[in-house]
Amino acid sequence: MSRVRVHNFSISLDGFGTGDGQSLEAPFGHAGQRLHAWMFATRFWDDAGTAGVDDAFAERHEPGIGAEIMGAGKFGPPGWQDDPEWRGWWGPNPPFHTPVYVLTHRPRPPLEMDGRTTFHFVDAEPVDALAVAREAADGQDIRIGGGATMLREFLAAGLVDHLHVVQVPIVLGRGVRLWDGLEALEEQYDVEAVSSPSGVTHLTFTR
Ligand SMILES: NC(=O)c1ccc[n+]([C@@H]2O[C@H](COP(=O)([O-])OP(=O)(O)OC[C@H]3O[C@@H](n4cnc5c(N)ncnc54)[C@H](OP(=O)(O)O)[C@@H]3O)[C@@H](O)[C@H]2O)c1
Repeated sequence: MSRVRVHNFSISLDGFGTGDGQSLEAPFGHAGQRLHAWMFATRFWDDAGTAGVDDAFAERHEPGIGAEIMGAGKFGPPGWQDDPEWRGWWGPNPPFHTPVYVLTHRPRPPLEMDGRTTFHFVDAEPVDALAVAREAADGQDIRIGGGATMLREFLAAGLVDHLHVVQVPIVLGRGVRLWDGLEALEEQYDVEAVSSPSGVTHLTFTR
C-alpha cells in the first residue's frame, strides 16, 4: 500500500505553520520567509546551498511521490477563488510534476500546467480526497502539502503515515496552529528528533 507522507512542514516554537495576515504580497503573513529560511539555505533548494543535516531531510520531499494534496490556503492568497485567472504561485511549470488535488469548497475545472502538473480542485472529506489521489498516484506515495488547517484534518482522521515537522526557533505568537485538537497524537507514532547546527529541529513521526 502506498504511504501518505508529509515533508518539510515548518512550524514556529509556538506551533504556527503560517503567520497572521496572508496576502498576495505576504504568502506566509507576518512570518515572512522565517519558517523556511533553513530550507532555502540547502542544496535541495539552491545548488550553492549546504549539504548537511537540513539538506538530507529536505530532499526526502521528492522521491517516490505520485500525487500531492494541498489546501486552498497553500494554492493561493485569500480570495483566489474569485479570480478565474489564478493559476497558483509557481508559474507555468510548477515544481510538483504530478497530479495535485487542491481542497476547496469552491471547486473549478482542472488546470493542466507544464511539466506534468495538473491541479484538480476537490470539495471532499480527507479520506475521499485521499482515495482519489491514491488512484492517480498509481502505487507511489501521496504527499500532504499543507497548510496547517488541512494537515490538521488529515492527522485528526489518522491518515498520515509519515510526518516530518521542522521546528524553527522563532515565536510567531499568531497565525494558524498545527497541533490544536490533536491531543496525544504522538502515541500513534515512533517519534525521533534530530537537531541541526542551523538551529532547527527535525521531528519525524512514523507509524
Ligand atoms: N509551514 C509550512 O511548511 C507550510 C506548508 C504549506 C503551506 N504553508 C502556508 O500555510 C498557509 C495556508 O494554510 P492554511 O491553514 O491557512 O490553509 P490550508 O490548510 O492550505 O487550506 C485551508 C482551506 O482549504 C479548504 N479545505 C480544507 N479542507 C477541506 C475539505 N475537506 N473540503 C473542501 N475544502 C477544504 C478550505 O478552503 P475554501 O475556503 O476554498 O473552502 C480551507 O479554508 C499559507 O500561508 C501557506 O503558504 C506552510
